[in-house]
Amino acid sequence: MDRYEDLLRKAFDPEEFRREGKKIVDLLADFLASSRPGVRPRAYPWEDPESMLASWAGRFGSKPSAPFADLLPEILRRSNDLLHPRFVGHQCTTSLPLAALGGFAGQFLNNGSAVYEMGPVNVAMERQLIRWMAGLAGYGPEADGIFTSGGSSGNLTALLAARQAAAEGDIWRGGVAAEPPLAVLASAQSHYSVRRSVAVMGLGEDAVVPVEVDGSFRMTVEGFRAALAEAGRRGRRPIVLVANACSTATGSYDDLERAADWAATAGLWLHVDGAHGAGALLSPKYRQLLRGLERADSFIWDAHKNMLMPALMTAVVFRDGGHSYEAFSQKASYLFEKSAAEEWYNYAHRTMECTKTMMGMRLFISLAAYGTDFFGGYVTAAWDLAREFAHRLQAAGDFEVAVEPESNIVCFRYMKAGETDFDGLQRRIRRTLLEQGRFYVVQTELGGRTWLRCTLINPRTTIADLEELMDEIRAVCSKT
Ligand SMILES: Cc1ncc(COP(=O)(O)O)c(C=O)c1O
Repeated sequence: MDRYEDLLRKAFDPEEFRREGKKIVDLLADFLASSRPGVRPRAYPWEDPESMLASWAGRFGSKPSAPFADLLPEILRRSNDLLHPRFVGHQCTTSLPLAALGGFAGQFLNNGSAVYEMGPVNVAMERQLIRWMAGLAGYGPEADGIFTSGGSSGNLTALLAARQAAAEGDIWRGGVAAEPPLAVLASAQSHYSVRRSVAVMGLGEDAVVPVEVDGSFRMTVEGFRAALAEAGRRGRRPIVLVANACSTATGSYDDLERAADWAATAGLWLHVDGAHGAGALLSPKYRQLLRGLERADSFIWDAHKNMLMPALMTAVVFRDGGHSYEAFSQKASYLFEKSAAEEWYNYAHRTMECTKTMMGMRLFISLAAYGTDFFGGYVTAAWDLAREFAHRLQAAGDFEVAVEPESNIVCFRYMKAGETDFDGLQRRIRRTLLEQGRFYVVQTELGGRTWLRCTLINPRTTIADLEELMDEIRAVCSKT
């Protein structure tokens, strides 16, 4: 059986595939069924990195050693359980099981989406999704955009287009040295990918001028004016304002109408980082948080955050769709027809990636199966749950909340009576929770203080789970 020809026959044998596939789906379905506190107490199976590494050593070699169905139980047991209602840490979502199946079918077909002829169905689906998302944002028919692999790549793509639009010459050809120094004004609460994008673009980190925020973590007009002045002091021409909808640490939404006014007055491109919070566009109750988005020049929206999609899938949308063709104005004539700059269906013109997964297909089939209202209901419930959790924390008396949540992110601290080092206490709590594994929460720094942070991105999390979390924290602290 170890001969190449035999293994090849086995690898592509439809009946073998059917059998193995059923085993895999059964194991995953069992995992889903047991992913509940009463059945599986641990949402987070902490193991130290060195022993994890050592345990996977020598487990493949020149000959077959284990079928996937034999390895999968161990993989499941030792992986983070994002389906678990008590996995409430980072902004990584529980995958909608159907979307995971879509991903599986997409990997099977493996139609790359660089150009239309490589992945025709997915290319067309993504076009429809972009139109739908642009419409939700209030953009007109001239809007356009693409999907890319993650919010970081999305911010980079939008900022490249913004720079290309603002540049006096052709910066793509001539490089940054041919331009006067430029500046990007960004909320002091921006995700680090904004700063990183600017550095990658060769502008230097010094080109990022932070706009100070108020106690609700929203940019202020004084902060904006000060940032403009600071850009001048640094000898840089400001070209873009980056607003949050919402911010990573606290989930706070900038006032986009005011940001659009400021950007218009100063002649800046307005980019809205909606990686986490643009999902609120789906919720009739919360879409007003994004009022003003229709005036932004570009925005991003991560479907792998608040749309239950497996990673990665980021929409980059431009109000004037022509800008979507300017981020990467590079010629790659072996892939494209000549003068193909306006061909909507050859996406590689417009993204960092060449080959991509069939990411749009996963969302398209999920919307088709469940309808858009289902996703709106999900966002509304998650945003409501965060408000309810904050309310319970405040009412409890022994917890403090950093800011009234606007999305599904809640930052809080345990205020143990008699404690003097509250920052150290939060870090100890987080470390113990991690090691115990019954809850997964993260931590963040705000105003020089350490806070515990939860993202209520899992639709199976209930207020009862969060009450349990409060009790667990009290229990942890009663022993320290
Ligand atoms: C506001 C915001 N923008 C961008 C990103 C980066 O997204 P990704 O992790 O998909 O690259 C994040 C990730 O947490 C985010 O919260």
